[in-house]
Amino acid sequence: MILIDGKKAAAELRQELKHEVTELKVKYNKVPGLTVILIGDLTPSQIYVRNKEKSANEVGLKSEVIKYPDSVEEKTVLEKIEELNKDETVSGILVQLPLPKHIDKQKVIETILPSKDVDGFHPMNVGNLSSGYESSVPCTPLGCYLLIKKVEPNLNGKKAVIVGRSNLNGKPMTQLLLKENCTVTITHSKTKDLKAECLEADIIVAAVGIPELVKGDWVKKNTIVIDVGINKTDKGIVGDVDFDEVSKNAKALTPVPGGVGPMTIACLLKNTIECFKRSQI
Ligand code: GUN
Repeated sequence: MILIDGKKAAAELRQELKHEVTELKVKYNKVPGLTVILIGDLTPSQIYVRNKEKSANEVGLKSEVIKYPDSVEEKTVLEKIEELNKDETVSGILVQLPLPKHIDKQKVIETILPSKDVDGFHPMNVGNLSSGYESSVPCTPLGCYLLIKKVEPNLNGKKAVIVGRSNLNGKPMTQLLLKENCTVTITHSKTKDLKAECLEADIIVAAVGIPELVKGDWVKKNTIVIDVGINKTDKGIVGDVDFDEVSKNAKALTPVPGGVGPMTIACLLKNTIECFKRSQI
């Protein structure tokens, strides 16, 4: 079984991005900039944002974090986004989710210029991705896709089963694998026989938020299994895949932690650089 080392893959990607930023600096005499807006004091969000800032600095991006208290008015946030949209030193804008209840998430997402939407959440980017046009691609599915391609560069005709239909993961993951000529089945909580669907798969991406849902006897030999889950349980953080069982069957598997997580942040940096490059044309 191949244990897919997301930490190592992310470190390699960051190294490539660092070189690219150096070259861009020579060519344009400026570097891509990432601005993250963090609202409130949720601990996981604070940790994510700190890691994003650290990684952005490591590859040489200009990085800024704007913090607001939980009580901030929606109008203040929208006005700040408008200001960042106009700021030429800002290539990418990310508003950390979740947001306090009184702030309309969709309004926030749609206020970010599609060309600066490093999350790929703006409807324009969602539409472009599903139409096969150039777009920002959500960071987590992009990270999963790059890990799958490392194990299996040619995905032509492979059968992929996605467990979970979220806008953040399942749906964009489907688009990325369709582009690679996979036959994609998207499953969810109302799917009749999840085990039977998974047993058909050459590739399984589990992104459903149910601890250790995917069992060993759901996976045939030679299947690549990507675990997007991060679930807090009594025995600590576990994924959506039963690691001990599935590792006995699968061809390749991502661990939790140390699989998809590190790639997500590296892909955010990649998206920021892509936004910068498109803005220079
Ligand atoms: N919160 C958890 N994951 C994400 C993400 O990918 N993007 C944003 N903006 N917020 C998140």
